[in-house]
Amino acid sequence: MQSHRFSGEAPACLLPRVLGVFAVFMLLGTHALAQGPTGVGRTPTEEEIRAWDISISPTGEELPPGQGTSEEGRLVYRRQCASCHGADASGGSGPRLVKRDVQPDHPWDFGRILPIRAPYATVVWDYINRGMPLNREGTLTADQVYALTAYLLFINDVIAEETVLDAESLPAIEMPNRDAFARVPDWQPGKPRLAGYPH
Ligand code: HEC
Repeated sequence: MQSHRFSGEAPACLLPRVLGVFAVFMLLGTHALAQGPTGVGRTPTEEEIRAWDISISPTGEELPPGQGTSEEGRLVYRRQCASCHGADASGGSGPRLVKRDVQPDHPWDFGRILPIRAPYATVVWDYINRGMPLNREGTLTADQVYALTAYLLFINDVIAEETVLDAESLPAIEMPNRDAFARVPDWQPGKPRLAGYPH
């Protein structure tokens, strides 16, 4: 009778252990694959890292050489941007890029206009450089990006028409929304996030 009972219990006790050992082998297996000669997990080369590392910080120290004016920017805009953002930058299939004609209490009242709402002019440069023209990103030269940034800042009354933008003058621009970017209310437990945030 006794031996009968033992043989009946043994499989039930062993099953979790067998599964545990199996799980450990599964983990070891994935680890070995990730490091193995399958092409997965290769260390990127210096050149590849440089190509991906295009972020521009507020100080602008990463900005490439080059320069541009609003007049030059107007020409590039007409050819490469107007089809989506409108000939007068007031919008089309893409968003409006010139501020609304209103008396603002706050820079946000001008609308969702990057060359107004960005706290630093380097953000405008970075956005155009990495994201526009839509579907042909990465095709603009540094000079064209400086010129387009100058054009958009000029039509929004942030800089004078003749300002030459380059790696030195661009970060020095004081943006209208510099100190008022995203006035987010203090968070309290249970309070919806970004309540009252305009965009
Ligand atoms: C094929 C259409 C298209 C073209 C061409 C295009 N854009 Fe855009 N652009 C868009 C769309 C759509 C958005 C909105 C993207 C989003 O909100 O994620 C946008 C967003 C922007 C913004 C940010 C707007 C904001 O206030 O948030 C800027 C600045 C901008 N584009 C500049 C340009 C410039 C400069 C060019 C020309 C070099 C250009 N775009 C060409 C479609 C286009």
